[in-house]
Amino acid sequence: MNPVGVFDSGVGGLSVLAALRAELPHENFVYFADTAYAPYGERGDAYVIERSRAVVEHLLRAHGIKALVVACNTATTAAIHLLRAEHPNLPIVGLEPGLKPAVAASRTGRVAVMATRGTLASAKYAALRASFAGSADVRQVPCDGLVKAIEGFDAAGISALCERYMNEAGPFGNGPDDVDTVVLGCTHYPLVKDELRRHAPASLRFIDTGVPVAQQTRRLLASAGQLAEQLAEGGPGNLTLESSGHVTVLEAAARRWLGLTMPTPAIPATATTAV
Ligand code: DGL
Repeated sequence: MNPVGVFDSGVGGLSVLAALRAELPHENFVYFADTAYAPYGERGDAYVIERSRAVVEHLLRAHGIKALVVACNTATTAAIHLLRAEHPNLPIVGLEPGLKPAVAASRTGRVAVMATRGTLASAKYAALRASFAGSADVRQVPCDGLVKAIEGFDAAGISALCERYMNEAGPFGNGPDDVDTVVLGCTHYPLVKDELRRHAPASLRFIDTGVPVAQQTRRLLASAGQLAEQLAEGGPGNLTLESSGHVTVLEAAARRWLGLTMPTPAIPATATTAV
């Protein structure tokens, strides 16, 4: 019953954790928010690689994780190939902006991708985008500052930045020149979807990848013979929350965005995990 490790630069990966817990209710999860080092998205690959390595070492050493979900588009694009090479026996699932389902769903053929600057500048994203060249008009919207505002519970900042970036992503609608589908290419953004929606017609489609990532995690666990429901009878799995910042902030985010009940097991209220 070793846990599945999930990490992000901060609270954004909670949007993925919600889908994971729904898809895999018997698994134990440990969620690590690298809050003391967030945001990742405007800092460059070397920084993100170093932090990703440190967090994964911690999750392996302290928790013996049996699988890893990199619940962060930025860390996936910068580091997942290295993590896979360094931990060949650890099943690892990453995230990339959901361009494929967005292009498939769009009727106007115009799609906007909201993501961090780091994700949009990466070679991995360039390759993804190139694979849809000719089949859709794809607009990139780097959302500088939005992660920081979400991490800080800065309601005024979130509101202003959502308005600004939705203006850049549009115009929205169903006409031939309109964007009808927006990819939320950073795991923080689904947490503010209601705020984003305020600046768009009800028909606008948002795509995020929490559910497919959870399904892929199930497939990997099953093929490794590691699915909890195969190993143990019984009820819902445990959740452990850890943060390199203050875990109380992470708990507040989990309460606010996921409706999780606290306290989480075995974590002192003021804990900070040095990694
Ligand atoms: N949540 C992360 C992502 O999906 C990025 C956040 C950050 O900039 O730290 O890209």
